[in-house]
Amino acid sequence: MPALPARPLNVQSEPVLGSLRFRLPALFLAGVVLAGVVATVISIRFFQAYTYSRAVHELRSESIGIVSLYASQAGQQEVPIATLRKAIGGDRIFYVPIVPGASLFAGPLPLLPIGTLTAGELASSQPTTLNLEHKGSSYLAVAAPITIGKQVLGALVVAKPQSELRSSWLVLLERLAVAFGGGVLVAALVGVYLTRRIVRPLASLSSAADEIAGGSYDVEVPRPKGHDEIAQLSARFADMAAKLAEAEQLSRNFLMSVSHELRTPLTAIRGHVSALREGVIEDPESYSSSLAVIEEEAIRLERLVGDVLDLAKLDAHRFTVLEEEVDMRELCERAYAAFGEVARLRSIDYRRDFEARPVIVTDGDRVLQIISNLLSNAFRWTPEGGRISLSLGAENGAVSVVVSDSGPGISPEERERIFRPFWSRDGGGTGLGLAIARELANALGGRIDLRSEPGLGARFELTLPNR
Ligand SMILES: Nc1ncnc2c1ncn2[C@@H]1O[C@H](COP(=O)(O)OP(=O)(O)OP(=O)(O)O)[C@@H](O)[C@H]1O
Ligand SMILES: [Mg+2]
Repeated sequence: MPALPARPLNVQSEPVLGSLRFRLPALFLAGVVLAGVVATVISIRFFQAYTYSRAVHELRSESIGIVSLYASQAGQQEVPIATLRKAIGGDRIFYVPIVPGASLFAGPLPLLPIGTLTAGELASSQPTTLNLEHKGSSYLAVAAPITIGKQVLGALVVAKPQSELRSSWLVLLERLAVAFGGGVLVAALVGVYLTRRIVRPLASLSSAADEIAGGSYDVEVPRPKGHDEIAQLSARFADMAAKLAEAEQLSRNFLMSVSHELRTPLTAIRGHVSALREGVIEDPESYSSSLAVIEEEAIRLERLVGDVLDLAKLDAHRFTVLEEEVDMRELCERAYAAFGEVARLRSIDYRRDFEARPVIVTDGDRVLQIISNLLSNAFRWTPEGGRISLSLGAENGAVSVVVSDSGPGISPEERERIFRPFWSRDGGGTGLGLAIARELANALGGRIDLRSEPGLGARFELTLPNR
Protein backbone atom coordinates (compact mmCIF):
# COMPACT_ATOMS: atom_id res chain seq x y z
CA MET A 1 0.00 0.00 0.00
CA PRO A 2 1.59 3.32 -0.94
CA ALA A 3 2.15 5.58 2.03
CA LEU A 4 -0.35 8.39 2.07
CA PRO A 5 1.16 11.86 1.94
CA ALA A 6 1.06 13.43 5.36
CA ARG A 7 -1.41 16.26 5.54
CA PRO A 8 -0.18 19.09 7.68
CA LEU A 9 -3.20 19.85 9.82
CA ASN A 10 -2.27 21.62 12.94
CA VAL A 11 -5.07 22.77 15.17
CA GLN A 12 -2.88 25.36 16.83
CA SER A 13 -2.16 27.16 13.57
CA GLU A 14 -5.82 27.42 12.52
CA PRO A 15 -7.19 30.95 12.44
CA VAL A 16 -8.50 31.59 15.95
CA LEU A 17 -11.73 33.25 14.82
CA GLY A 18 -12.74 30.22 12.77
CA SER A 19 -11.85 27.70 15.47
CA LEU A 20 -14.30 25.93 17.74
CA ARG A 21 -12.28 27.19 20.68
CA PHE A 22 -13.48 30.66 19.83
CA ARG A 23 -16.80 30.00 18.14
CA LEU A 24 -18.33 27.79 20.81
CA PRO A 25 -17.96 30.20 23.74
CA ALA A 26 -18.78 33.14 21.45
CA LEU A 27 -22.01 31.47 20.33
CA PHE A 28 -22.83 30.49 23.89
CA LEU A 29 -22.23 34.06 25.09
CA ALA A 30 -24.17 35.55 22.19
CA GLY A 31 -27.09 33.33 23.17
CA VAL A 32 -26.88 34.37 26.80
CA VAL A 33 -26.60 38.08 25.89
CA LEU A 34 -29.55 37.82 23.53
CA ALA A 35 -31.65 36.07 26.17
CA GLY A 36 -30.60 38.72 28.71
CA VAL A 37 -31.48 41.62 26.40
CA VAL A 38 -34.86 40.13 25.57
CA ALA A 39 -35.59 39.48 29.25
CA THR A 40 -34.51 43.03 30.16
CA VAL A 41 -36.62 44.65 27.45
CA ILE A 42 -39.65 42.61 28.50
CA SER A 43 -39.15 43.40 32.20
CA ILE A 44 -38.75 47.11 31.50
CA ARG A 45 -41.87 47.12 29.35
CA PHE A 46 -43.85 45.40 32.10
CA PHE A 47 -42.42 47.70 34.71
CA GLN A 48 -43.22 50.80 32.63
CA ALA A 49 -46.79 49.64 32.17
CA TYR A 50 -47.02 48.90 35.87
CA THR A 51 -45.61 52.28 37.03
CA TYR A 52 -47.81 54.09 34.51
CA SER A 53 -51.00 52.42 35.69
CA ARG A 54 -50.03 52.84 39.31
CA ALA A 55 -49.33 56.55 38.75
CA VAL A 56 -52.65 56.98 36.95
CA HIS A 57 -54.40 55.20 39.77
CA GLU A 58 -52.75 57.46 42.37
CA LEU A 59 -53.51 60.62 40.41
CA ARG A 60 -57.12 59.59 40.00
CA SER A 61 -57.66 58.91 43.65
CA GLU A 62 -55.93 62.14 44.59
CA SER A 63 -58.00 64.19 42.17
CA ILE A 64 -61.24 62.49 43.15
CA GLY A 65 -60.36 62.98 46.82
CA ILE A 66 -59.76 66.70 46.43
CA VAL A 67 -62.84 67.20 44.31
CA SER A 68 -65.09 65.42 46.79
CA LEU A 69 -63.48 67.38 49.61
CA TYR A 70 -64.34 70.53 47.72
CA ALA A 71 -67.87 69.35 47.02
CA SER A 72 -68.46 68.62 50.69
CA GLN A 73 -67.27 72.08 51.69
CA ALA A 74 -68.74 74.02 48.75
CA GLY A 75 -70.52 77.18 49.82
CA GLN A 76 -69.28 76.90 53.40
CA GLN A 77 -65.64 77.63 53.17
CA GLU A 78 -62.88 77.57 50.58
CA VAL A 79 -60.46 74.71 50.44
CA PRO A 80 -57.08 75.90 51.75
CA ILE A 81 -54.40 75.52 49.09
CA ALA A 82 -51.66 75.02 51.60
CA THR A 83 -53.39 71.92 53.03
CA LEU A 84 -53.82 70.55 49.52
CA ARG A 85 -50.21 71.11 48.65
CA LYS A 86 -49.11 69.51 51.83
CA ALA A 87 -51.30 66.49 51.17
CA ILE A 88 -50.19 66.04 47.58
CA GLY A 89 -46.77 67.64 47.53
CA GLY A 90 -45.05 70.00 45.12
CA ASP A 91 -46.58 72.14 42.46
CA ARG A 92 -48.64 69.33 41.14
CA ILE A 93 -52.09 70.83 41.35
CA PHE A 94 -53.56 73.01 38.64
CA TYR A 95 -56.90 74.46 37.94
CA VAL A 96 -58.69 74.79 34.61
CA PRO A 97 -61.33 77.49 35.04
CA ILE A 98 -64.49 76.93 32.99
CA VAL A 99 -66.74 79.41 34.71
CA PRO A 100 -64.46 82.44 35.04
CA GLY A 101 -64.25 84.10 38.45
CA ALA A 102 -65.71 81.22 40.39
CA SER A 103 -63.76 81.32 43.60
CA LEU A 104 -63.09 77.79 44.62
CA PHE A 105 -59.90 77.58 46.56
CA ALA A 106 -58.48 79.69 49.34
CA GLY A 107 -55.40 81.04 47.63
CA PRO A 108 -54.28 81.00 43.98
CA LEU A 109 -53.72 77.73 42.16
CA PRO A 110 -51.70 77.78 38.95
CA LEU A 111 -54.17 78.05 36.12
CA LEU A 112 -54.14 76.03 32.94
CA PRO A 113 -55.82 77.31 29.76
CA ILE A 114 -59.18 75.89 29.00
CA GLY A 115 -57.78 74.40 25.78
CA THR A 116 -55.90 71.89 27.92
CA LEU A 117 -59.01 69.76 27.90
CA THR A 118 -61.10 68.85 24.85
CA ALA A 119 -64.81 69.67 24.75
CA GLY A 120 -65.65 66.03 25.42
CA GLU A 121 -63.30 65.89 28.38
CA LEU A 122 -64.75 69.11 29.76
CA ALA A 123 -68.25 67.74 29.52
CA SER A 124 -67.36 64.40 31.11
CA SER A 125 -68.28 63.82 34.71
CA GLN A 126 -65.41 61.30 35.07
CA PRO A 127 -61.73 62.11 35.62
CA THR A 128 -59.64 62.17 32.40
CA THR A 129 -56.01 61.07 32.01
CA LEU A 130 -53.87 63.36 29.88
CA ASN A 131 -50.29 64.25 28.98
CA LEU A 132 -49.55 67.79 29.98
CA GLU A 133 -46.86 70.27 28.92
CA HIS A 134 -46.32 73.02 31.42
CA LYS A 135 -43.42 75.45 31.62
CA GLY A 136 -41.20 73.21 29.55
CA SER A 137 -41.87 70.02 31.56
CA SER A 138 -44.05 67.08 30.66
CA TYR A 139 -46.52 65.62 33.11
CA LEU A 140 -48.84 62.70 33.38
CA ALA A 141 -52.02 64.21 34.72
CA VAL A 142 -55.59 63.46 35.71
CA ALA A 143 -58.26 66.14 35.40
CA ALA A 144 -61.36 65.81 37.57
CA PRO A 145 -64.39 68.01 36.94
CA ILE A 146 -65.65 70.23 39.78
CA THR A 147 -69.39 70.51 39.66
CA ILE A 148 -72.00 72.28 41.65
CA GLY A 149 -75.41 70.90 41.03
CA LYS A 150 -75.21 70.10 37.37
CA GLN A 151 -72.85 72.91 36.46
CA VAL A 152 -69.18 72.23 35.77
CA LEU A 153 -67.23 75.13 37.29
CA GLY A 154 -63.80 73.96 36.32
CA ALA A 155 -61.44 71.03 36.46
CA LEU A 156 -58.86 70.20 39.03
CA VAL A 157 -55.68 68.74 37.48
CA VAL A 158 -53.31 66.65 39.56
CA ALA A 159 -50.04 65.93 37.72
CA LYS A 160 -46.90 63.93 38.11
CA PRO A 161 -43.71 64.85 36.22
CA GLN A 162 -42.79 62.26 33.57
CA SER A 163 -39.19 62.49 34.77
CA GLU A 164 -40.29 61.00 38.08
CA LEU A 165 -41.80 58.03 36.28
CA ARG A 166 -38.69 57.63 34.12
CA SER A 167 -36.34 57.75 37.07
CA SER A 168 -38.14 54.85 38.74
CA TRP A 169 -37.54 52.50 35.84
CA LEU A 170 -34.01 53.85 35.32
CA VAL A 171 -33.24 52.51 38.79
CA LEU A 172 -34.62 49.16 37.72
CA LEU A 173 -32.52 49.29 34.54
CA GLU A 174 -29.38 49.94 36.58
CA ARG A 175 -30.04 46.95 38.78
CA LEU A 176 -30.85 44.77 35.82
CA ALA A 177 -27.61 45.87 34.15
CA VAL A 178 -25.60 44.77 37.18
CA ALA A 179 -27.40 41.40 37.25
CA PHE A 180 -26.93 41.08 33.50
CA GLY A 181 -23.20 41.83 33.70
CA GLY A 182 -22.79 39.25 36.46
CA GLY A 183 -24.75 36.69 34.44
CA VAL A 184 -22.68 37.29 31.31
CA LEU A 185 -19.45 36.91 33.29
CA VAL A 186 -20.57 33.60 34.76
CA ALA A 187 -21.81 32.45 31.34
CA ALA A 188 -18.48 33.37 29.76
CA LEU A 189 -16.56 31.38 32.37
CA VAL A 190 -18.86 28.38 31.96
CA GLY A 191 -18.62 28.71 28.15
CA VAL A 192 -14.83 28.74 28.20
CA TYR A 193 -14.73 25.78 30.59
CA LEU A 194 -17.18 23.70 28.54
CA THR A 195 -15.42 24.55 25.31
CA ARG A 196 -12.11 23.44 26.71
CA ARG A 197 -13.65 20.16 27.75
CA ILE A 198 -15.06 19.64 24.27
CA VAL A 199 -12.23 20.99 22.19
CA ARG A 200 -9.26 19.45 23.98
CA PRO A 201 -10.10 15.83 23.13
CA LEU A 202 -11.05 16.89 19.61
CA ALA A 203 -7.68 18.57 19.15
CA SER A 204 -5.91 15.42 20.38
CA LEU A 205 -8.02 13.30 18.04
CA SER A 206 -7.11 15.61 15.21
CA SER A 207 -3.40 15.29 15.87
CA ALA A 208 -3.79 11.52 16.20
CA ALA A 209 -5.49 11.59 12.77
CA ASP A 210 -2.54 13.55 11.42
CA GLU A 211 -0.13 10.93 12.66
CA ILE A 212 -2.19 8.15 11.11
CA ALA A 213 -2.40 10.06 7.83
CA GLY A 214 1.37 10.31 8.03
CA GLY A 215 1.63 6.53 8.23
CA SER A 216 2.30 5.89 11.91
CA TYR A 217 -0.53 3.69 13.12
CA ASP A 218 0.72 3.07 16.64
CA VAL A 219 -0.49 6.46 17.93
CA GLU A 220 -2.15 6.62 21.27
CA VAL A 221 -5.73 7.72 20.69
CA PRO A 222 -7.07 9.79 23.61
CA ARG A 223 -9.88 8.06 25.51
CA PRO A 224 -11.89 10.70 27.42
CA LYS A 225 -13.90 9.47 30.38
CA GLY A 226 -17.68 9.14 30.28
CA HIS A 227 -20.10 7.93 27.65
CA ASP A 228 -20.84 11.11 25.75
CA GLU A 229 -20.57 11.62 22.01
CA ILE A 230 -16.92 12.65 22.20
CA ALA A 231 -16.02 9.54 24.19
CA GLN A 232 -17.86 7.49 21.59
CA LEU A 233 -16.12 9.27 18.76
CA SER A 234 -12.76 8.58 20.38
CA ALA A 235 -13.62 4.92 20.86
CA ARG A 236 -14.69 4.59 17.20
CA PHE A 237 -11.58 6.44 16.15
CA ALA A 238 -9.39 4.06 18.15
CA ASP A 239 -11.17 1.09 16.54
CA MET A 240 -10.65 2.62 13.14
CA ALA A 241 -6.95 3.20 13.82
CA ALA A 242 -6.58 -0.43 14.95
CA LYS A 243 -8.38 -1.68 11.83
CA LEU A 244 -6.23 0.51 9.60
CA ALA A 245 -3.11 -0.82 11.28
CA GLU A 246 -4.36 -4.37 10.79
CA ALA A 247 -5.27 -3.71 7.15
CA GLU A 248 -1.86 -2.26 6.54
CA GLN A 249 -0.20 -5.23 8.18
CA LEU A 250 -2.33 -7.60 6.11
CA SER A 251 -1.53 -5.87 2.86
CA ARG A 252 2.17 -5.87 3.71
CA ASN A 253 1.99 -9.58 4.52
CA PHE A 254 0.07 -10.16 1.33
CA LEU A 255 2.73 -8.47 -0.79
CA MET A 256 5.50 -10.35 0.99
CA SER A 257 3.69 -13.64 0.54
CA VAL A 258 3.02 -13.00 -3.13
CA SER A 259 6.68 -12.19 -3.78
CA HIS A 260 7.77 -15.19 -1.78
CA GLU A 261 5.41 -17.53 -3.59
CA LEU A 262 6.46 -16.17 -6.97
CA ARG A 263 10.11 -16.44 -6.17
CA THR A 264 10.08 -20.14 -5.24
CA PRO A 265 9.04 -21.50 -8.65
CA LEU A 266 11.08 -18.84 -10.44
CA THR A 267 14.22 -19.92 -8.58
CA ALA A 268 13.59 -23.54 -9.57
CA ILE A 269 12.99 -22.59 -13.18
CA ARG A 270 16.12 -20.46 -13.32
CA GLY A 271 18.27 -23.19 -11.80
CA HIS A 272 17.12 -25.75 -14.31
CA VAL A 273 17.40 -23.39 -17.27
CA SER A 274 20.99 -22.46 -16.30
CA ALA A 275 21.91 -26.09 -15.89
CA LEU A 276 20.47 -26.89 -19.30
CA ARG A 277 22.19 -23.96 -20.92
CA GLU A 278 25.58 -24.70 -19.42
CA GLY A 279 25.28 -28.29 -20.57
CA VAL A 280 25.58 -29.67 -17.04
CA ILE A 281 22.74 -32.04 -17.72
CA GLU A 282 23.69 -34.47 -20.40
CA ASP A 283 21.75 -37.68 -20.18
CA PRO A 284 18.35 -37.49 -21.88
CA GLU A 285 16.49 -38.68 -18.79
CA SER A 286 17.71 -35.82 -16.57
CA TYR A 287 17.18 -33.50 -19.46
CA SER A 288 13.53 -34.37 -19.80
CA SER A 289 13.01 -34.41 -16.03
CA SER A 290 14.45 -30.89 -15.87
CA LEU A 291 12.05 -29.79 -18.56
CA ALA A 292 9.21 -31.44 -16.64
CA VAL A 293 10.15 -29.49 -13.49
CA ILE A 294 10.25 -26.27 -15.47
CA GLU A 295 6.84 -27.01 -16.95
CA GLU A 296 5.40 -27.94 -13.55
CA GLU A 297 6.75 -24.81 -11.92
CA ALA A 298 5.50 -22.68 -14.80
CA ILE A 299 2.03 -24.18 -14.36
CA ARG A 300 2.24 -23.47 -10.63
CA LEU A 301 3.25 -19.91 -11.36
CA GLU A 302 0.40 -19.51 -13.80
CA ARG A 303 -2.08 -20.82 -11.24
CA LEU A 304 -0.68 -18.60 -8.56
CA VAL A 305 -0.86 -15.48 -10.69
CA GLY A 306 -4.39 -16.46 -11.77
CA ASP A 307 -5.42 -16.93 -8.15
CA VAL A 308 -3.95 -13.61 -7.02
CA LEU A 309 -5.66 -11.89 -9.91
CA ASP A 310 -8.97 -13.57 -9.04
CA LEU A 311 -8.63 -12.48 -5.45
CA ALA A 312 -7.77 -8.91 -6.43
CA LYS A 313 -10.79 -8.76 -8.74
CA LEU A 314 -13.08 -10.28 -6.13
CA ASP A 315 -11.78 -7.78 -3.61
CA ALA A 316 -12.39 -4.87 -5.96
CA HIS A 317 -15.84 -6.26 -6.88
CA ARG A 318 -14.76 -6.43 -10.50
CA PHE A 319 -15.38 -10.10 -10.82
CA THR A 320 -17.86 -11.19 -13.46
CA VAL A 321 -20.07 -14.13 -12.57
CA LEU A 322 -22.17 -15.94 -15.13
CA GLU A 323 -25.84 -16.56 -14.63
CA GLU A 324 -26.90 -19.91 -15.98
CA GLU A 325 -29.14 -22.74 -14.89
CA VAL A 326 -27.02 -25.20 -13.00
CA ASP A 327 -28.10 -28.70 -12.04
CA MET A 328 -26.45 -28.87 -8.65
CA ARG A 329 -26.67 -32.65 -8.39
CA GLU A 330 -24.83 -33.12 -11.68
CA LEU A 331 -22.22 -30.61 -10.62
CA CYS A 332 -21.66 -32.35 -7.29
CA GLU A 333 -21.35 -35.68 -9.09
CA ARG A 334 -18.55 -34.20 -11.20
CA ALA A 335 -16.75 -32.78 -8.19
CA TYR A 336 -17.18 -36.08 -6.33
CA ALA A 337 -15.92 -38.18 -9.20
CA ALA A 338 -12.74 -36.11 -9.58
CA PHE A 339 -11.44 -37.39 -6.22
CA GLY A 340 -12.62 -41.00 -6.54
CA GLU A 341 -9.23 -42.28 -7.56
CA VAL A 342 -7.31 -40.53 -4.76
CA ALA A 343 -9.81 -41.88 -2.24
CA ARG A 344 -9.31 -45.41 -3.51
CA LEU A 345 -5.51 -45.12 -3.46
CA ARG A 346 -5.50 -43.80 0.12
CA SER A 347 -8.27 -46.13 1.32
CA ILE A 348 -10.43 -43.24 2.39
CA ASP A 349 -14.06 -43.96 3.13
CA TYR A 350 -15.39 -41.51 0.54
CA ARG A 351 -19.19 -41.05 0.48
CA ARG A 352 -21.80 -38.89 -1.05
CA ASP A 353 -25.32 -38.10 -0.03
CA PHE A 354 -27.36 -36.14 -2.54
CA GLU A 355 -30.90 -35.86 -1.20
CA ALA A 356 -32.18 -33.18 -3.49
CA ARG A 357 -31.81 -32.24 -7.12
CA PRO A 358 -31.95 -28.45 -7.09
CA VAL A 359 -31.48 -26.46 -10.25
CA ILE A 360 -30.33 -22.94 -9.49
CA VAL A 361 -29.23 -19.89 -11.44
CA THR A 362 -25.56 -19.34 -10.69
CA ASP A 363 -22.07 -19.63 -12.16
CA GLY A 364 -21.47 -23.40 -12.48
CA ASP A 365 -17.70 -23.26 -13.03
CA ARG A 366 -17.21 -21.09 -9.96
CA VAL A 367 -19.37 -23.32 -7.79
CA LEU A 368 -17.36 -26.32 -8.98
CA GLN A 369 -14.16 -24.42 -8.15
CA ILE A 370 -15.37 -23.84 -4.58
CA ILE A 371 -16.46 -27.44 -3.99
CA SER A 372 -13.25 -28.82 -5.52
CA ASN A 373 -11.25 -26.52 -3.29
CA LEU A 374 -13.04 -27.77 -0.17
CA LEU A 375 -12.65 -31.38 -1.29
CA SER A 376 -8.96 -30.92 -2.09
CA ASN A 377 -8.38 -29.52 1.41
CA ALA A 378 -10.28 -32.41 2.95
CA PHE A 379 -8.16 -34.91 1.04
CA ARG A 380 -4.99 -33.11 1.92
CA TRP A 381 -5.68 -33.18 5.64
CA THR A 382 -7.46 -36.48 6.09
CA PRO A 383 -5.10 -39.31 6.95
CA GLU A 384 -5.10 -42.64 5.19
CA GLY A 385 -8.12 -44.73 6.11
CA GLY A 386 -10.09 -41.66 7.16
CA ARG A 387 -13.54 -40.58 6.10
CA ILE A 388 -14.73 -37.82 3.74
CA SER A 389 -18.26 -37.09 2.61
CA LEU A 390 -19.92 -34.73 0.20
CA SER A 391 -23.60 -34.00 0.63
CA LEU A 392 -26.13 -31.81 -1.14
CA GLY A 393 -29.37 -30.53 0.32
CA ALA A 394 -31.97 -27.90 -0.47
CA GLU A 395 -34.23 -26.24 2.03
CA ASN A 396 -35.72 -22.86 2.92
CA GLY A 397 -34.85 -21.31 -0.42
CA ALA A 398 -31.18 -22.21 -0.12
CA VAL A 399 -28.95 -24.94 -1.44
CA SER A 400 -26.25 -26.32 0.79
CA VAL A 401 -23.21 -28.37 -0.10
CA VAL A 402 -21.35 -29.88 2.84
CA VAL A 403 -17.84 -31.29 2.76
CA SER A 404 -16.87 -33.05 5.97
CA ASP A 405 -13.80 -35.02 6.85
CA SER A 406 -12.22 -36.89 9.73
CA GLY A 407 -8.95 -34.97 9.62
CA PRO A 408 -7.29 -33.01 12.44
CA GLY A 409 -9.94 -30.31 12.41
CA ILE A 410 -9.38 -26.62 12.93
CA SER A 411 -8.79 -24.92 16.26
CA PRO A 412 -11.00 -21.97 17.26
CA GLU A 413 -8.06 -19.53 16.88
CA GLU A 414 -7.50 -20.70 13.32
CA ARG A 415 -11.14 -20.54 12.27
CA GLU A 416 -10.92 -16.98 10.87
CA ARG A 417 -7.29 -17.10 9.89
CA ILE A 418 -7.61 -19.98 7.43
CA PHE A 419 -9.78 -17.79 5.21
CA ARG A 420 -7.05 -15.17 4.88
CA PRO A 421 -4.92 -15.14 1.77
CA PHE A 422 -1.59 -16.96 2.04
CA TRP A 423 -2.39 -18.52 5.35
CA SER A 424 -1.38 -22.14 5.22
CA ARG A 425 -0.73 -24.35 8.22
CA ASP A 426 2.14 -26.29 6.74
CA GLY A 427 3.29 -24.08 3.90
CA GLY A 428 2.53 -26.96 1.53
CA GLY A 429 -0.10 -24.98 -0.32
CA THR A 430 -0.28 -21.33 -1.24
CA GLY A 431 -3.00 -20.59 1.31
CA LEU A 432 -5.20 -18.97 -1.34
CA GLY A 433 -7.75 -21.77 -1.73
CA LEU A 434 -10.14 -20.86 1.08
CA ALA A 435 -9.67 -17.11 0.63
CA ILE A 436 -10.79 -17.43 -2.98
CA ALA A 437 -13.56 -19.90 -2.11
CA ARG A 438 -15.05 -17.52 0.44
CA GLU A 439 -14.83 -14.47 -1.83
CA LEU A 440 -16.39 -16.48 -4.67
CA ALA A 441 -19.22 -17.66 -2.43
CA ASN A 442 -19.89 -14.04 -1.45
CA ALA A 443 -19.80 -12.93 -5.08
CA LEU A 444 -22.43 -15.60 -5.85
CA GLY A 445 -24.65 -14.30 -3.06
CA GLY A 446 -23.84 -17.18 -0.71
CA ARG A 447 -21.41 -17.98 2.10
CA ILE A 448 -19.13 -20.60 3.57
CA ASP A 449 -19.56 -21.70 7.19
CA LEU A 450 -17.15 -23.82 9.12
CA ARG A 451 -17.85 -26.15 12.01
CA SER A 452 -14.99 -27.99 13.52
CA GLU A 453 -13.79 -29.61 16.70
CA PRO A 454 -10.03 -30.02 16.87
CA GLY A 455 -9.26 -33.70 16.48
CA LEU A 456 -12.75 -34.51 15.26
CA GLY A 457 -12.53 -33.33 11.68
CA ALA A 458 -13.89 -30.35 9.84
CA ARG A 459 -17.20 -29.54 8.20
CA PHE A 460 -17.35 -26.81 5.56
CA GLU A 461 -20.78 -25.81 4.33
CA LEU A 462 -21.35 -23.79 1.17
CA THR A 463 -24.77 -22.15 1.11
CA LEU A 464 -26.09 -20.65 -2.12
CA PRO A 465 -29.37 -18.86 -2.73
CA ASN A 466 -31.91 -21.01 -4.56
CA ARG A 467 -32.96 -18.68 -7.35
N1 LIG B 1 -10.35 -29.78 5.91
C1 LIG B 1 -9.38 -29.18 6.60
N2 LIG B 1 -8.89 -29.75 7.74
C2 LIG B 1 -7.92 -29.14 8.44
N3 LIG B 1 -7.37 -27.96 8.11
C3 LIG B 1 -7.80 -27.36 7.00
C4 LIG B 1 -8.84 -27.91 6.20
N4 LIG B 1 -9.07 -27.08 5.18
C5 LIG B 1 -8.21 -26.07 5.32
N5 LIG B 1 -7.45 -26.19 6.42
C6 LIG B 1 -6.43 -25.27 6.92
O1 LIG B 1 -6.62 -24.03 6.29
C7 LIG B 1 -5.43 -23.61 5.64
C8 LIG B 1 -5.75 -22.78 4.45
O2 LIG B 1 -6.41 -23.54 3.47
P1 LIG B 1 -6.37 -23.06 1.99
O3 LIG B 1 -7.16 -23.94 1.14
O4 LIG B 1 -6.75 -21.61 1.98
O5 LIG B 1 -4.84 -23.10 1.66
P2 LIG B 1 -3.96 -24.36 1.31
O6 LIG B 1 -4.83 -25.54 1.17
O7 LIG B 1 -2.89 -24.39 2.34
O8 LIG B 1 -3.34 -23.91 -0.05
P3 LIG B 1 -4.04 -23.92 -1.50
O9 LIG B 1 -5.46 -24.38 -1.31
O10 LIG B 1 -3.97 -22.51 -1.95
O11 LIG B 1 -3.23 -24.83 -2.29
C9 LIG B 1 -4.70 -24.88 5.36
O12 LIG B 1 -3.32 -24.64 5.27
C10 LIG B 1 -5.03 -25.72 6.57
O13 LIG B 1 -4.19 -25.37 7.61
MG1 LIG C 1 -6.49 -25.54 -0.15
